[in-house]
Amino acid sequence: MDIIIGCDHGAFKVKEELKRHLSDNGHAVEDVGTGSDLSVDYPEYAAKLAKRVQETGNTGILLCGTGIGMSMAANKFKGIRAALCHDVHTAKMAREHNNANVLCLGGRTTSLEDVKKIVDVFLTTETSQEERHHRRVDEISSIEKDNFK
Ligand code: RB5
Repeated sequence: MDIIIGCDHGAFKVKEELKRHLSDNGHAVEDVGTGSDLSVDYPEYAAKLAKRVQETGNTGILLCGTGIGMSMAANKFKGIRAALCHDVHTAKMAREHNNANVLCLGGRTTSLEDVKKIVDVFLTTETSQEERHHRRVDEISSIEKDNFK
């Protein structure tokens, strides 16, 4: 699978480890930065990643200290459904029920081992085919259409 990944300084080291894990598992990884642990502003990287997800339709992974700022910023972009996940259950639900296309993680709140497990579940879980889940995700798109002028 083609994956786009981005982070701020709060999760740079975790992102580098995660890139290795993804490559070892056969994924092609596009990295939008940041490229070191020097302090940067997370919205810039959330925006870079969100635009690439919009352009390519590929799955995104964003990491910052908590994952909170990245998820807030990414969700400002049309068609982006960014989910902040803290465990494998929320990752599974984010895909099955919410058809999330961007996974957000906290490099300072979640261990590297858990990050890898959460990512693996997120990338291997299909969206539910049940009508009610599709309907609700469509309702999110309607809110976006009506409220983002
Ligand atoms: C950076 O110190 C930190 O605020 C950032 O990584 C993130 O946690 C924001 O939500």
